[in-house]
Amino acid sequence: MMKNLMTVSELDAKDISEMVRIARKFKNGKNVSLKKVKNKTLALIFQKPSTRTRLSFEIAMEQMGGNSIFLSESDLQISRGELIKDTARTLSEYVDIVAMRTYHNSDIQEFIDNSSIPVINALSNTNHPCQALSDIQTIIEKKKTLRNLKITWIGDSNNVLNDFLFAALKLGADFSIACPSKYSPNKGIIEVAKEIMRKNKSSLSISTDPMKAVIDSDVVVTDKIVSMGDKNKEGKKKVFLPKYRVTDKIMSKAKDDAIFMHCLPAVRGEEVSDSVIDGKNSVIWQQVDNKLHMHKALIWSMLR
Ligand code: CP
Ligand code: NVA
Repeated sequence: MMKNLMTVSELDAKDISEMVRIARKFKNGKNVSLKKVKNKTLALIFQKPSTRTRLSFEIAMEQMGGNSIFLSESDLQISRGELIKDTARTLSEYVDIVAMRTYHNSDIQEFIDNSSIPVINALSNTNHPCQALSDIQTIIEKKKTLRNLKITWIGDSNNVLNDFLFAALKLGADFSIACPSKYSPNKGIIEVAKEIMRKNKSSLSISTDPMKAVIDSDVVVTDKIVSMGDKNKEGKKKVFLPKYRVTDKIMSKAKDDAIFMHCLPAVRGEEVSDSVIDGKNSVIWQQVDNKLHMHKALIWSMLR
C-alpha cells in the first residue's frame, strides 16, 4: 500500500479498488481492527479553507480512536518563514500522519522528502486525490463498475478533474470532457491520461460542446468555475456561462439513470442549476458521506 498520497496517477487500478473495498467495510460497519490507529495523531495543515475534507478527516480519526490537530497556515511558524523541511522534521517527532491542503505540490513534496511519516494531499492547485477516491466509491456503489461506463465532465479542467480522470481511466471508463478550449486539460495531464489509457483500455474525448459530449452518459460531473486561488474570476465566469452550466436540458441527453456528481462546495445557478443538484439523479450527499469512509480507509492503510 502507498506510503504517501500525492496524486491518483501514482496508484494502480488494484490500489484504487482496494481503497474502495476498505472504505466500504468501514461504511458497512464490518469488523476492522483499529489497533494501529488507536491513540495515533493526524495533523491537518491547511493553507486553504475546507468544510468537508477537514471535518471528515477529523471525525474519521475520532471514530477510529485516534486524535487530530488542525493547523491553519497562520498557526504555524511557516507563516513567519520557517522552512517546510524543518516543519516536516518537527511534525515527524510528534504526530503519526499528515494531511496537507496547499497551493503547490512542490510544498507537499518537500514535506514528504523531509518527514518520516505518511503524508496525504488533501487538495492542491492541481490535484485532489482523496476526492477522486471517494467519488470512485460512490460510482461503484451506484453503478457496480467503471468498466465501459461513460463519464462526462462539464466545466473547468481543475484539480478535482485531474485525479478523477486518472482514477476513472485506470478503472476502464470512457471519459468525455466538455470545456472551453482555453480551459482544456494541459499537456502534462493529457500525457499521463494517454499512458493510463494505453494500459487500461479506456478512452478520453475532449470537446467544447456539452450538449453533444453528454449524450448517453452514465455519470455527469462538474465543479465550481472558480477554484480557490484562481485569478480573473469574473473573466473566467464569462467564458463558461451559460454554456457550461449543467441544466435539466443537458441531463436529458444523458441516460435516464445517469447520476449527477459535484464534490461541493457548489455555486448554485452557476455551474449547475438547482433543479439538477437537488434532482433525483444527484448523488452529492452520498459523495459527502463517502469522504468520511474513504478518509478512514486512507488513514488506516497508510499508518504503519
Ligand atoms: N470537496 C471538498 O474537498 O470540500 P471542502 O473544500 O469543503 O473540503
Ligand atoms: N476545484 C475546487 C475544489 C474545492 C473542493 C477548488 O480547488 O476550489
